Amino acid sequence: MKCRVCRQPAVIDLRRHNANFCAEHFVEHCREQVRRTIDHFKMVAPGDRVLVAVSGGKDSLALWDLLVELGYDADGLYLGLGIGDYSDESGRYAREFASQRGLHLVEVDLRDDIGFDVPTAAAVTKRVPCSACGLSKRHLFDRAAIDGGYDAVATGHNLDDEAAVLFGNTLRWNIEYLGRQLPVLPARAGLPRKVKPLVRLAEREMAAYCVVRGIDYQVEECPMAAGNRHLGYKEALNAIEASSPGAKSAFYFEFLDKASHLFANRAQTERDGLQACQSCGTPTPGEVCAFCRLVERTAGATPVELTVKAPPL
Ligand code: AMP
Ligand code: FES
Ligand code: ZN
Ligand code: ZN
Repeated sequence: MKCRVCRQPAVIDLRRHNANFCAEHFVEHCREQVRRTIDHFKMVAPGDRVLVAVSGGKDSLALWDLLVELGYDADGLYLGLGIGDYSDESGRYAREFASQRGLHLVEVDLRDDIGFDVPTAAAVTKRVPCSACGLSKRHLFDRAAIDGGYDAVATGHNLDDEAAVLFGNTLRWNIEYLGRQLPVLPARAGLPRKVKPLVRLAEREMAAYCVVRGIDYQVEECPMAAGNRHLGYKEALNAIEASSPGAKSAFYFEFLDKASHLFANRAQTERDGLQACQSCGTPTPGEVCAFCRLVERTAGATPVELTVKAPPL
């Protein structure tokens, strides 16, 4: 197995590109993919300040590294979710990455700064933890970006993540979500632009990137996400990809190219119906946004100890 560029021994094979790369040219390949994504979707303009949401996992730390190496002005944001040891460790990886490279990491802690954590919110709302978690992330990423004067929030969603979400949304024809499933969402109503510069790179590639670049990251999956439907969609897509390299990327990028605009009106109509939350000003269909309602509901709730069921053998 030889590198496509220099013919030296390769460290990774990328079947959907029909190419192998040595470490140096693999890093170059990843940078090129991110550079092309940012240019193509006009994600970041010269002089923009970017806030990278870093979870301590491979994707978001790789993204931060890639943006900095490409010369962007990028700070990090770590949100402490209060998910036991998992969150403590994740925060350590994010802090270590930042301090080793002299980068600025903004930190927000759900329990200390807002008053609840994900396990408690899940118990109070009696819904899957990912629901309160996702809602809090979206809201607090926006808020941190506005407070810090950033132009865009970047997240580490990769090709596998986006293809799995698309798979779920098409399985159920969730057309309101399909209209919004874009790698860049423009700034609106005082909210920052949202960008996903890793959509051309797969999960396996981000893990390899971290190894090659010497980035230590949280390897564990979130213990509260067990049973998350997207994990099943990823497995299904991986099975298809194994026999048909490139299928995953075609599924996602052909959707963006040929179909996403068909759902844009629906998404626009929804946006037009929004008004400012009476409490925090976030655009919302009701009077008070879902995040402020969550804050109200969890106020005074006894913190819930994280209990994780062992996964089936
Ligand atoms: P997830 O929702 O866990 O699939 O993560 C998607 C993206 O959200 C990650 O790639 C990060 O960019 C961001 N993210 C997830 N968890 C956190 C966190 N605790 N703090 C900051 N950013 C996060
Ligand atoms: Fe949100 Fe696990 S990271 S529930
Ligand atoms: Zn090479
Ligand atoms: Zn609100």
